[in-house]
Amino acid sequence: MTSTQSKQNSYHIGYKEDTLKAFELRNASTCLGYLLPTLSSLPPTFTLLDVGCGPGSITLDLARRFPQAKIIGVDIGAEAISRAQAMIPTYAPNTRVEFRVGNVLEPSSFLAPEELATGFDVVHEHTTLICIPNNIKVLRMMRQLARPDGGIVACREGDTASQLLWPPLPESAELQARIYEMNGLDTQTGRKLLSKALEVGFRREQITATASVLSNITREEREPYGGSMLSMLDDETSEYRRAAAKFGYSEEQVEVLRQNMRRFIEAEDAWRLLVCTEVICRRDDKAEGGKQ
Ligand SMILES: C[S@@+](CC[C@H](N)C(=O)[O-])C[C@H]1O[C@@H](n2cnc3c(N)ncnc32)[C@H](O)[C@@H]1O
Repeated sequence: MTSTQSKQNSYHIGYKEDTLKAFELRNASTCLGYLLPTLSSLPPTFTLLDVGCGPGSITLDLARRFPQAKIIGVDIGAEAISRAQAMIPTYAPNTRVEFRVGNVLEPSSFLAPEELATGFDVVHEHTTLICIPNNIKVLRMMRQLARPDGGIVACREGDTASQLLWPPLPESAELQARIYEMNGLDTQTGRKLLSKALEVGFRREQITATASVLSNITREEREPYGGSMLSMLDDETSEYRRAAAKFGYSEEQVEVLRQNMRRFIEAEDAWRLLVCTEVICRRDDKAEGGKQ
């Protein structure tokens, strides 16, 4: 496997227990306020593909809210998918939700020919593009996977450069930025989301654009975020430690990162806020003379 292929096929953060727990704080209420009214307006049996669903907390919540919808969560990480699958009986019993392992860029490896031929009513992603190098290819693929006659592509993306942290964690923010750079990831994916939607062929009038904030404010929200960072700092094989070594951080500097992260978890006045951009894009190829 070439290094470019390995970057395309891996997820830089990994799937440690604390990381999966941090993702599991996410649900449709906290993350999909922009999309829920649109989903409620669709026939109840709509089809939805959740691209890069991770441990599936958003996907499962959607399935609970729309039990007749055919919802498929796909992720390249087999560990994340087996965790999501195991949660179906508890969090989304009596629904049609399914989880599949796969690379969104190779849809025939996880979708049946008839699913590919029909396309989905909704193709959704939440903070997946920012984790994939050259992510315009993923957005283009999402557009292809949406039904040509009115299918929706819905994205919510973080913009890591917009992150506000108190107490300040400048060393941590710097290391994070270096990790993104080392993996060829675009930290400004959030602010470019509308441009990217236009680039893959949506017209501006087909796109509804909004923004909101992803936050870790209560201790229950700060602990999984900080805990996930701490466990990556403790693991010498993690991307965080590899980046720290690559950029010449001393043991003392790594210890400062740990102390600051512990303070972030403990401090009463701590919070993390991240601007997220959101787009709902509607395909209408008939109006465009059958354009793909
Ligand atoms: C930041 S996580 C977001 C998880 C979930 N959407 C959420 O917000 O809780 C990004 C996810 O994208 C997945 N991913 C990265 N590249 C992928 C690819 N090419 N195909 C499918 N999933 C991918 C990763 O494995 C990871 O679980």
